[in-house]
Amino acid sequence: MSAPPSGGGHPDRQPVEPADDRAKWNERYRRRAGAERRSEGGGGDPTAEDVVPPPALVRLARFLPGAGRAIDLAGGRGDGALFLARRGLAATVVDISDVALAQAAERAAAMGLAVETVNADLGSADLATVLDLAAGSGPPPAVITCFRYLQRRLLASVGRDLPPGSRFIVAVATTANLERHARPSARFLLEPCELDELVVAGHRDLQVLHRSEGWTPTGHHEAELVVRRGRRAPGGPGDHAGSGVDR
Ligand SMILES: C[S@@+](CC[C@H](N)C(=O)[O-])C[C@H]1O[C@@H](n2cnc3c(N)ncnc32)[C@H](O)[C@@H]1O
Repeated sequence: MSAPPSGGGHPDRQPVEPADDRAKWNERYRRRAGAERRSEGGGGDPTAEDVVPPPALVRLARFLPGAGRAIDLAGGRGDGALFLARRGLAATVVDISDVALAQAAERAAAMGLAVETVNADLGSADLATVLDLAAGSGPPPAVITCFRYLQRRLLASVGRDLPPGSRFIVAVATTANLERHARPSARFLLEPCELDELVVAGHRDLQVLHRSEGWTPTGHHEAELVVRRGRRAPGGPGDHAGSGVDR
């Protein structure tokens, strides 16, 4: 499936298309595929070993639901979505790069996995827009994931737009990462403690299942957050908003 940025139901929420970002990422993914083909001496079908999911997704996999729909935002060539699909989730990957999504679809087919692709610019999207584009008329996603992609408006809309019963899992590097790595540059990095402030603050009905910020085993400084919107009425008995429980 491919939904252009002009699709969806809220005209006031349509993101502007930054042609430069699309061209930049398309070029990166083209180059990467070319380099892989050369190092493999011409190719061969991708296998499960070729899937390298974001390390945070692997670390936080215990928070994934056992079934249902999963949407991976800015998921590139599908390493995250393929990981989710192998765990039995009906995975969709959303990305601005049509080249990356073509690679995701090709890899999924080669592995016998079903992964949907949605080509969309998330640059100024909020979560409601994303759900319009990616979830369509199907059931709400059981989980939405976002790794190594920072878009503050999207994060700030999670508290309002996350459907009841759904989880949101996110990990993005912080400015402390610059102590060890020149890239990503500061504009793609969170300020210290900013993730919690963007996503959770003011939303009592969001249950925090996990939060952490620090150096990861792979040597990057990342903020991670897993939240769920309960099915219960906010503020009612059993509302554990902001508990910070890691489970
Ligand atoms: C650093 S990569 C991360 C890919 C993947 N999430 C991971 O962790 O391996 C950033 C991704 O964001 C995508 N991206 C950049 N700008 C975007 C935009 N405005 N809308 C949607 N995707 C975008 C890129 O195409 C790329 O796949």
